[in-house]
Amino acid sequence: MKKILSIDHGLHGEIKIPGDKSISHRSIMISSLADSPVEVTNFLKGADCLSTIACMRSLGVKIEESAEKILIKGNGLNGLRESENILDAGNSGTTLRLLIGLLSAQKFLTTFTGDNSLRQRPMSRVIKPLTMMNAKIFGRNDNKNLPITILPAEGKLKGINYKMPVASAQVKSAIILAGLYADSPTTIIEPYPSRDHTEKMLSAFGVEIEKSANEITVKPIEKLIAPKSIEVPGDISSAAYWIVAASIIKNSDVVIKNVGINETRTGIIDVMKDMGAKIEFINERISGGEKFADIHVVTSDLHGVTFGGEMIPRLIDEIPIIAVACAFAEGETVINDVAELRVKETDRLAAIENEFNKISAGAFETTKDKLIIHGGLDKKFAECKTYDDHRMAMSLSIFGAAANGVEIDNPNCVKISYPNFFDTLQEDKFL
Ligand code: S3P
Repeated sequence: MKKILSIDHGLHGEIKIPGDKSISHRSIMISSLADSPVEVTNFLKGADCLSTIACMRSLGVKIEESAEKILIKGNGLNGLRESENILDAGNSGTTLRLLIGLLSAQKFLTTFTGDNSLRQRPMSRVIKPLTMMNAKIFGRNDNKNLPITILPAEGKLKGINYKMPVASAQVKSAIILAGLYADSPTTIIEPYPSRDHTEKMLSAFGVEIEKSANEITVKPIEKLIAPKSIEVPGDISSAAYWIVAASIIKNSDVVIKNVGINETRTGIIDVMKDMGAKIEFINERISGGEKFADIHVVTSDLHGVTFGGEMIPRLIDEIPIIAVACAFAEGETVINDVAELRVKETDRLAAIENEFNKISAGAFETTKDKLIIHGGLDKKFAECKTYDDHRMAMSLSIFGAAANGVEIDNPNCVKISYPNFFDTLQEDKFL
Protein backbone atom coordinates (compact mmCIF):
# COMPACT_ATOMS: atom_id res chain seq x y z
CA MET A 1 0.00 0.00 0.00
CA LYS A 2 1.14 3.54 -0.67
CA LYS A 3 -0.52 6.83 0.18
CA ILE A 4 -0.05 9.72 -2.24
CA LEU A 5 -0.84 13.18 -0.96
CA SER A 6 -2.31 16.05 -2.87
CA ILE A 7 0.30 18.38 -4.47
CA ASP A 8 -0.68 21.94 -3.59
CA HIS A 9 2.04 24.19 -4.97
CA GLY A 10 2.45 22.98 -8.54
CA LEU A 11 5.29 21.10 -10.23
CA HIS A 12 8.44 23.09 -11.04
CA GLY A 13 11.83 22.64 -12.62
CA GLU A 14 13.43 19.89 -14.69
CA ILE A 15 12.28 16.27 -14.70
CA LYS A 16 14.47 13.39 -15.85
CA ILE A 17 12.64 10.31 -17.09
CA PRO A 18 13.89 6.77 -17.74
CA GLY A 19 14.78 5.36 -21.17
CA ASP A 20 12.14 4.27 -23.66
CA LYS A 21 10.84 0.76 -22.95
CA SER A 22 10.09 -0.18 -26.57
CA ILE A 23 13.47 1.03 -27.83
CA SER A 24 15.35 -0.57 -24.89
CA HIS A 25 13.87 -4.01 -25.73
CA ARG A 26 14.74 -3.64 -29.40
CA SER A 27 18.27 -2.42 -28.66
CA ILE A 28 19.02 -5.71 -26.87
CA MET A 29 17.30 -8.03 -29.34
CA ILE A 30 18.67 -6.46 -32.51
CA SER A 31 22.20 -5.94 -31.14
CA SER A 32 22.18 -9.62 -30.15
CA LEU A 33 22.04 -10.47 -33.87
CA ALA A 34 25.09 -8.36 -34.75
CA ASP A 35 28.61 -9.73 -34.87
CA SER A 36 30.30 -6.65 -33.43
CA PRO A 37 29.64 -5.26 -29.93
CA VAL A 38 27.02 -2.55 -29.42
CA GLU A 39 26.93 -0.16 -26.48
CA VAL A 40 23.49 1.05 -25.33
CA THR A 41 23.15 4.20 -23.23
CA ASN A 42 20.10 5.41 -21.24
CA PHE A 43 18.78 1.82 -21.31
CA LEU A 44 15.64 1.35 -19.19
CA LYS A 45 16.49 -1.01 -16.33
CA GLY A 46 12.82 -1.75 -15.75
CA ALA A 47 11.66 -5.30 -15.07
CA ASP A 48 10.30 -5.79 -18.62
CA CYS A 49 13.59 -4.91 -20.33
CA LEU A 50 15.52 -6.98 -17.78
CA SER A 51 13.34 -9.94 -18.87
CA THR A 52 14.57 -9.36 -22.43
CA ILE A 53 18.20 -9.30 -21.24
CA ALA A 54 17.70 -12.54 -19.30
CA CYS A 55 16.11 -14.26 -22.32
CA MET A 56 18.90 -13.18 -24.70
CA ARG A 57 21.54 -14.36 -22.21
CA SER A 58 19.83 -17.75 -22.06
CA LEU A 59 20.08 -17.82 -25.86
CA GLY A 60 23.87 -17.50 -25.66
CA VAL A 61 24.38 -13.73 -26.01
CA LYS A 62 26.96 -12.04 -23.73
CA ILE A 63 25.47 -8.92 -22.19
CA GLU A 64 27.46 -6.79 -19.73
CA GLU A 65 25.62 -4.32 -17.52
CA SER A 66 27.15 -1.29 -15.82
CA ALA A 67 25.58 1.76 -14.22
CA GLU A 68 26.00 3.87 -17.36
CA LYS A 69 25.51 1.41 -20.20
CA ILE A 70 24.77 -2.07 -21.50
CA LEU A 71 27.29 -3.81 -23.77
CA ILE A 72 25.85 -6.49 -26.06
CA LYS A 73 28.23 -8.96 -27.69
CA GLY A 74 26.18 -10.78 -30.31
CA ASN A 75 27.30 -13.81 -32.30
CA GLY A 76 25.75 -12.76 -35.61
CA LEU A 77 22.38 -13.29 -37.27
CA ASN A 78 22.65 -17.08 -36.87
CA GLY A 79 24.51 -17.03 -33.56
CA LEU A 80 21.67 -17.67 -31.10
CA ARG A 81 21.87 -21.00 -29.22
CA GLU A 82 19.19 -23.25 -27.75
CA SER A 83 18.32 -22.29 -24.19
CA GLU A 84 18.87 -24.97 -21.54
CA ASN A 85 15.76 -23.82 -19.76
CA ILE A 86 12.28 -22.38 -20.36
CA LEU A 87 12.46 -18.67 -21.19
CA ASP A 88 10.49 -16.43 -18.80
CA ALA A 89 9.11 -13.23 -20.34
CA GLY A 90 7.75 -12.10 -16.93
CA ASN A 91 5.10 -9.39 -17.42
CA SER A 92 6.42 -8.30 -20.80
CA GLY A 93 4.27 -8.67 -23.92
CA THR A 94 7.00 -7.02 -26.00
CA THR A 95 9.66 -9.52 -24.89
CA LEU A 96 7.38 -12.43 -25.63
CA ARG A 97 5.81 -11.37 -28.93
CA LEU A 98 9.00 -10.07 -30.55
CA LEU A 99 11.02 -13.08 -29.43
CA ILE A 100 8.36 -15.52 -30.70
CA GLY A 101 8.94 -13.88 -34.10
CA LEU A 102 12.71 -14.01 -33.89
CA LEU A 103 12.89 -17.55 -32.51
CA SER A 104 10.39 -19.04 -34.93
CA ALA A 105 13.15 -18.73 -37.57
CA GLN A 106 15.85 -20.51 -35.52
CA LYS A 107 17.00 -24.11 -35.87
CA PHE A 108 16.34 -25.00 -32.23
CA LEU A 109 13.41 -25.48 -29.88
CA THR A 110 12.23 -22.79 -27.42
CA THR A 111 9.59 -22.83 -24.71
CA PHE A 112 8.25 -19.64 -23.10
CA THR A 113 6.35 -18.86 -19.96
CA GLY A 114 5.45 -15.62 -18.17
CA ASP A 115 3.64 -14.17 -15.15
CA ASN A 116 -0.09 -14.44 -14.30
CA SER A 117 -0.99 -11.45 -16.46
CA LEU A 118 1.04 -12.49 -19.52
CA ARG A 119 -0.33 -16.05 -19.35
CA GLN A 120 -3.84 -14.63 -20.00
CA ARG A 121 -2.87 -12.39 -22.93
CA PRO A 122 -3.68 -13.47 -26.52
CA MET A 123 -0.76 -14.76 -28.54
CA SER A 124 -2.69 -16.13 -31.53
CA ARG A 125 -2.30 -12.70 -33.15
CA VAL A 126 1.45 -13.37 -33.61
CA ILE A 127 1.28 -17.14 -34.00
CA LYS A 128 -1.17 -16.92 -36.93
CA PRO A 129 1.02 -14.90 -39.35
CA LEU A 130 4.19 -16.73 -38.25
CA THR A 131 2.47 -20.06 -38.98
CA MET A 132 1.68 -18.72 -42.46
CA MET A 133 5.46 -18.28 -42.80
CA ASN A 134 5.83 -22.01 -41.96
CA ALA A 135 6.84 -21.55 -38.32
CA LYS A 136 5.75 -24.36 -35.97
CA ILE A 137 4.40 -22.80 -32.77
CA PHE A 138 2.18 -24.40 -30.15
CA GLY A 139 0.30 -22.70 -27.32
CA ARG A 140 -2.32 -23.55 -24.73
CA ASN A 141 -6.00 -23.47 -25.86
CA ASP A 142 -7.50 -21.57 -28.84
CA ASN A 143 -5.96 -18.25 -27.88
CA LYS A 144 -2.53 -19.91 -27.96
CA ASN A 145 -1.77 -18.68 -24.47
CA LEU A 146 1.46 -19.38 -22.62
CA PRO A 147 3.21 -21.75 -22.19
CA ILE A 148 4.25 -21.64 -25.84
CA THR A 149 6.71 -23.92 -27.64
CA ILE A 150 8.42 -23.12 -30.93
CA LEU A 151 9.81 -26.08 -32.85
CA PRO A 152 13.09 -25.81 -34.77
CA ALA A 153 12.53 -24.20 -38.20
CA GLU A 154 12.84 -26.63 -41.11
CA GLY A 155 14.76 -24.68 -43.73
CA LYS A 156 13.99 -21.01 -44.29
CA LEU A 157 10.68 -19.40 -43.39
CA LYS A 158 8.48 -18.28 -46.25
CA GLY A 159 8.06 -14.55 -47.04
CA ILE A 160 4.39 -13.53 -46.79
CA ASN A 161 2.00 -10.72 -47.53
CA TYR A 162 -0.03 -10.11 -44.37
CA LYS A 163 -2.89 -7.75 -43.63
CA MET A 164 -2.99 -7.21 -39.87
CA PRO A 165 -6.48 -7.12 -38.30
CA VAL A 166 -5.31 -4.81 -35.45
CA ALA A 167 -2.64 -2.12 -35.41
CA SER A 168 0.02 -3.66 -33.16
CA ALA A 169 3.72 -2.84 -33.14
CA GLN A 170 4.43 -6.07 -31.30
CA VAL A 171 2.80 -8.21 -33.99
CA LYS A 172 4.34 -6.17 -36.79
CA SER A 173 7.79 -6.41 -35.19
CA ALA A 174 7.50 -10.17 -34.65
CA ILE A 175 6.76 -10.64 -38.38
CA ILE A 176 9.59 -8.27 -39.38
CA LEU A 177 12.12 -10.12 -37.21
CA ALA A 178 11.03 -13.47 -38.67
CA GLY A 179 11.13 -11.87 -42.14
CA LEU A 180 14.89 -11.23 -41.78
CA TYR A 181 15.33 -15.01 -42.11
CA ALA A 182 12.74 -15.69 -44.84
CA ASP A 183 13.30 -16.91 -48.40
CA SER A 184 11.72 -13.77 -49.93
CA PRO A 185 10.53 -10.29 -48.85
CA THR A 186 7.65 -10.01 -46.39
CA THR A 187 5.00 -7.28 -46.62
CA ILE A 188 2.80 -6.22 -43.72
CA ILE A 189 -0.23 -3.96 -44.05
CA GLU A 190 -1.45 -2.25 -40.87
CA PRO A 191 -4.93 -0.77 -40.38
CA TYR A 192 -3.19 2.31 -38.92
CA PRO A 193 0.52 3.00 -38.38
CA SER A 194 1.84 1.72 -35.03
CA ARG A 195 5.19 2.60 -33.43
CA ASP A 196 8.02 2.07 -35.92
CA HIS A 197 11.06 1.63 -33.66
CA THR A 198 11.84 -1.83 -35.07
CA GLU A 199 11.90 -0.49 -38.62
CA LYS A 200 14.03 2.51 -37.62
CA MET A 201 16.54 0.46 -35.65
CA LEU A 202 16.86 -2.29 -38.27
CA SER A 203 17.51 0.40 -40.90
CA ALA A 204 20.33 1.68 -38.68
CA PHE A 205 21.68 -1.93 -38.76
CA GLY A 206 21.68 -2.02 -42.59
CA VAL A 207 18.38 -3.83 -43.21
CA GLU A 208 16.40 -2.72 -46.27
CA ILE A 209 12.92 -1.74 -45.16
CA GLU A 210 10.47 -0.07 -47.52
CA LYS A 211 7.60 1.92 -46.10
CA SER A 212 4.63 3.55 -47.75
CA ALA A 213 1.62 4.70 -45.76
CA ASN A 214 0.48 1.61 -43.84
CA GLU A 215 2.59 -0.92 -45.75
CA ILE A 216 6.03 -2.19 -44.69
CA THR A 217 8.25 -4.54 -46.68
CA VAL A 218 11.34 -6.17 -45.15
CA LYS A 219 13.99 -7.93 -47.24
CA PRO A 220 15.80 -10.96 -45.80
CA ILE A 221 19.45 -10.31 -44.94
CA GLU A 222 22.61 -12.40 -44.36
CA LYS A 223 24.32 -10.11 -41.87
CA LEU A 224 23.61 -6.95 -39.87
CA ILE A 225 26.00 -4.01 -39.93
CA ALA A 226 25.84 -2.74 -36.38
CA PRO A 227 26.40 0.81 -35.20
CA LYS A 228 28.89 1.07 -32.29
CA SER A 229 26.31 2.58 -30.00
CA ILE A 230 22.61 3.27 -29.50
CA GLU A 231 21.31 6.17 -27.44
CA VAL A 232 17.87 5.39 -26.03
CA PRO A 233 15.62 8.47 -25.74
CA GLY A 234 13.53 9.11 -22.63
CA ASP A 235 10.16 7.32 -22.75
CA ILE A 236 7.28 9.58 -23.81
CA SER A 237 4.95 7.05 -22.12
CA SER A 238 6.72 7.88 -18.82
CA ALA A 239 6.88 11.61 -19.62
CA ALA A 240 3.09 11.38 -20.08
CA TYR A 241 2.52 11.31 -16.29
CA TRP A 242 4.31 14.66 -15.87
CA ILE A 243 2.79 16.17 -19.02
CA VAL A 244 -0.65 15.55 -17.54
CA ALA A 245 0.33 16.38 -13.93
CA ALA A 246 1.83 19.73 -14.94
CA SER A 247 -1.19 20.54 -17.13
CA ILE A 248 -3.78 19.92 -14.39
CA ILE A 249 -1.98 20.90 -11.16
CA LYS A 250 -2.21 24.68 -10.66
CA ASN A 251 0.92 26.84 -11.01
CA SER A 252 3.08 24.14 -12.63
CA ASP A 253 5.92 24.87 -15.02
CA VAL A 254 8.21 21.95 -15.90
CA VAL A 255 10.71 20.87 -18.52
CA ILE A 256 10.90 17.10 -19.11
CA LYS A 257 14.36 16.37 -20.46
CA ASN A 258 15.47 14.26 -23.39
CA VAL A 259 12.20 12.65 -24.47
CA GLY A 260 11.68 10.53 -27.62
CA ILE A 261 9.23 12.34 -29.90
CA ASN A 262 8.90 9.79 -32.72
CA GLU A 263 5.64 10.73 -34.50
CA THR A 264 4.18 7.26 -33.98
CA ARG A 265 4.31 8.00 -30.22
CA THR A 266 3.27 11.65 -29.87
CA GLY A 267 -0.52 11.19 -29.93
CA ILE A 268 -0.65 12.40 -26.32
CA ILE A 269 0.88 15.73 -27.32
CA ASP A 270 -1.63 16.22 -30.14
CA VAL A 271 -4.62 15.30 -27.98
CA MET A 272 -3.50 17.36 -24.97
CA LYS A 273 -2.93 20.37 -27.25
CA ASP A 274 -6.41 19.88 -28.74
CA MET A 275 -7.69 19.94 -25.16
CA GLY A 276 -6.00 23.30 -24.61
CA ALA A 277 -2.73 22.18 -22.98
CA LYS A 278 0.32 24.43 -23.21
CA ILE A 279 3.12 22.15 -24.41
CA GLU A 280 6.18 22.97 -26.50
CA PHE A 281 9.20 21.03 -27.75
CA ILE A 282 12.61 22.58 -27.21
CA ASN A 283 16.15 21.46 -28.14
CA GLU A 284 14.95 19.05 -30.85
CA ARG A 285 17.60 16.67 -32.26
CA ILE A 286 17.94 13.28 -34.00
CA SER A 287 20.05 10.27 -32.92
CA GLY A 288 20.01 6.78 -34.49
CA GLY A 289 16.98 7.75 -36.61
CA GLU A 290 14.89 8.69 -33.54
CA LYS A 291 13.83 12.28 -32.68
CA PHE A 292 14.50 13.69 -29.20
CA ALA A 293 13.33 16.92 -27.48
CA ASP A 294 12.83 18.55 -24.09
CA ILE A 295 9.14 19.09 -23.38
CA HIS A 296 8.02 22.30 -21.67
CA VAL A 297 4.58 22.15 -20.00
CA VAL A 298 2.71 24.80 -18.01
CA THR A 299 -0.70 24.56 -16.32
CA SER A 300 -3.67 25.25 -18.55
CA ASP A 301 -7.46 25.08 -18.66
CA LEU A 302 -8.48 21.92 -20.48
CA HIS A 303 -11.68 21.05 -22.30
CA GLY A 304 -13.10 17.71 -23.48
CA VAL A 305 -12.45 16.28 -26.97
CA THR A 306 -13.45 13.30 -29.13
CA PHE A 307 -10.87 11.05 -30.80
CA GLY A 308 -10.25 7.46 -31.94
CA GLY A 309 -9.17 5.57 -35.08
CA GLU A 310 -5.62 6.19 -36.19
CA MET A 311 -4.87 8.33 -33.13
CA ILE A 312 -5.20 5.28 -30.84
CA PRO A 313 -1.97 3.40 -31.70
CA ARG A 314 -0.09 6.71 -31.25
CA LEU A 315 -1.13 6.93 -27.58
CA ILE A 316 -2.24 3.40 -26.72
CA ASP A 317 -0.31 3.21 -23.41
CA GLU A 318 -1.22 6.78 -22.41
CA ILE A 319 -5.01 6.37 -22.35
CA PRO A 320 -5.26 5.85 -18.56
CA ILE A 321 -3.31 9.06 -17.84
CA ILE A 322 -5.15 10.97 -20.61
CA ALA A 323 -8.38 9.85 -18.92
CA VAL A 324 -7.08 11.50 -15.73
CA ALA A 325 -6.50 14.76 -17.65
CA CYS A 326 -10.05 14.51 -19.04
CA ALA A 327 -11.49 14.28 -15.50
CA PHE A 328 -10.07 17.79 -14.90
CA ALA A 329 -11.27 19.14 -18.26
CA GLU A 330 -14.46 21.07 -18.84
CA GLY A 331 -17.12 18.96 -20.59
CA GLU A 332 -17.18 15.47 -21.97
CA THR A 333 -14.45 13.45 -23.69
CA VAL A 334 -15.22 10.45 -25.91
CA ILE A 335 -12.36 8.06 -26.75
CA ASN A 336 -13.40 5.61 -29.49
CA ASP A 337 -11.79 2.37 -30.75
CA VAL A 338 -10.02 1.37 -27.54
CA ALA A 339 -10.95 -2.35 -27.38
CA GLU A 340 -7.20 -3.15 -27.33
CA LEU A 341 -7.06 -1.76 -23.78
CA ARG A 342 -8.95 -4.85 -22.67
CA VAL A 343 -5.94 -7.08 -23.49
CA LYS A 344 -3.12 -5.06 -21.95
CA GLU A 345 -1.38 -5.90 -18.62
CA THR A 346 -4.91 -5.87 -17.21
CA ASP A 347 -8.28 -4.98 -18.77
CA ARG A 348 -7.54 -1.26 -18.54
CA LEU A 349 -11.08 -0.15 -19.49
CA ALA A 350 -12.55 -2.17 -16.63
CA ALA A 351 -9.77 -1.00 -14.29
CA ILE A 352 -10.40 2.67 -15.17
CA GLU A 353 -14.16 2.31 -14.68
CA ASN A 354 -13.79 0.46 -11.37
CA GLU A 355 -11.00 2.48 -9.77
CA PHE A 356 -11.08 5.99 -11.25
CA ASN A 357 -14.78 6.30 -10.35
CA LYS A 358 -13.78 5.78 -6.68
CA ILE A 359 -11.98 9.15 -6.95
CA SER A 360 -14.49 10.97 -9.19
CA ALA A 361 -17.85 9.19 -8.90
CA GLY A 362 -19.73 8.83 -12.17
CA ALA A 363 -16.97 10.41 -14.28
CA PHE A 364 -15.85 7.30 -16.21
CA GLU A 365 -18.09 5.18 -18.43
CA THR A 366 -17.05 2.39 -20.77
CA THR A 367 -18.57 0.27 -23.51
CA LYS A 368 -16.80 -2.67 -25.14
CA ASP A 369 -14.56 -0.33 -27.16
CA LYS A 370 -15.23 3.20 -25.87
CA LEU A 371 -14.24 5.35 -22.92
CA ILE A 372 -16.35 8.37 -21.99
CA ILE A 373 -15.18 10.84 -19.35
CA HIS A 374 -17.34 13.51 -17.73
CA GLY A 375 -14.94 16.26 -16.69
CA GLY A 376 -15.12 18.60 -13.73
CA LEU A 377 -17.01 16.34 -11.28
CA ASP A 378 -16.13 16.26 -7.56
CA LYS A 379 -13.05 14.31 -6.49
CA LYS A 380 -12.31 12.70 -3.16
CA PHE A 381 -9.62 10.64 -1.43
CA ALA A 382 -10.03 6.91 -2.18
CA GLU A 383 -8.32 3.54 -1.77
CA CYS A 384 -7.76 2.06 -5.22
CA LYS A 385 -6.47 -1.13 -6.78
CA THR A 386 -3.70 -1.18 -9.38
CA TYR A 387 -4.41 -4.72 -10.65
CA ASP A 388 -0.58 -5.00 -10.58
CA ASP A 389 -0.54 -2.84 -13.71
CA HIS A 390 2.25 -0.25 -13.76
CA ARG A 391 0.30 2.25 -15.84
CA MET A 392 -2.75 2.01 -13.56
CA ALA A 393 -0.49 2.59 -10.51
CA MET A 394 1.10 5.71 -11.99
CA SER A 395 -2.13 7.14 -13.42
CA LEU A 396 -3.92 6.68 -10.07
CA SER A 397 -1.00 8.34 -8.28
CA ILE A 398 -1.17 11.43 -10.51
CA PHE A 399 -4.98 11.44 -10.18
CA GLY A 400 -4.67 11.48 -6.38
CA ALA A 401 -1.84 14.03 -6.38
CA ALA A 402 -3.95 16.39 -8.52
CA ALA A 403 -7.08 15.78 -6.40
CA ASN A 404 -7.33 14.91 -2.70
CA GLY A 405 -4.85 12.07 -2.43
CA VAL A 406 -5.12 8.34 -3.06
CA GLU A 407 -3.96 5.08 -1.52
CA ILE A 408 -2.90 2.33 -3.94
CA ASP A 409 -2.06 -1.33 -3.44
CA ASN A 410 1.14 -2.85 -4.87
CA PRO A 411 2.95 0.43 -5.76
CA ASN A 412 5.93 -1.78 -6.55
CA CYS A 413 4.49 -2.70 -9.96
CA VAL A 414 5.84 0.61 -11.35
CA LYS A 415 9.21 -1.21 -11.58
CA ILE A 416 8.00 -2.63 -14.93
CA SER A 417 8.60 0.64 -16.78
CA TYR A 418 9.50 3.39 -14.29
CA PRO A 419 11.41 2.12 -11.23
CA ASN A 420 11.98 5.57 -9.67
CA PHE A 421 8.54 7.05 -10.41
CA PHE A 422 7.72 7.64 -6.72
CA ASP A 423 11.12 9.25 -6.04
CA THR A 424 10.29 11.88 -8.65
CA LEU A 425 6.69 12.27 -7.48
CA GLN A 426 7.86 12.83 -3.93
CA GLU A 427 10.75 15.19 -4.74
CA ASP A 428 10.74 18.22 -2.44
CA LYS A 429 10.16 20.56 -5.34
CA PHE A 430 6.70 19.07 -5.87
CA LEU A 431 5.56 19.11 -2.23
C1 S3P B 1 4.75 -2.03 -27.71
C2 S3P B 1 3.59 -2.00 -28.46
C3 S3P B 1 2.25 -1.77 -27.89
C4 S3P B 1 2.34 -1.16 -26.50
C5 S3P B 1 3.37 -1.86 -25.63
C6 S3P B 1 4.73 -1.77 -26.26
C7 S3P B 1 6.03 -2.30 -28.39
O1 S3P B 1 1.58 -3.00 -27.80
O2 S3P B 1 1.08 -1.19 -25.88
O3 S3P B 1 3.40 -1.30 -24.35
O4 S3P B 1 7.09 -2.05 -27.78
O5 S3P B 1 6.00 -2.75 -29.54
P1 S3P B 1 0.71 -3.59 -29.01
O6 S3P B 1 1.60 -3.95 -30.11
O7 S3P B 1 0.02 -4.80 -28.45
O8 S3P B 1 -0.28 -2.51 -29.36
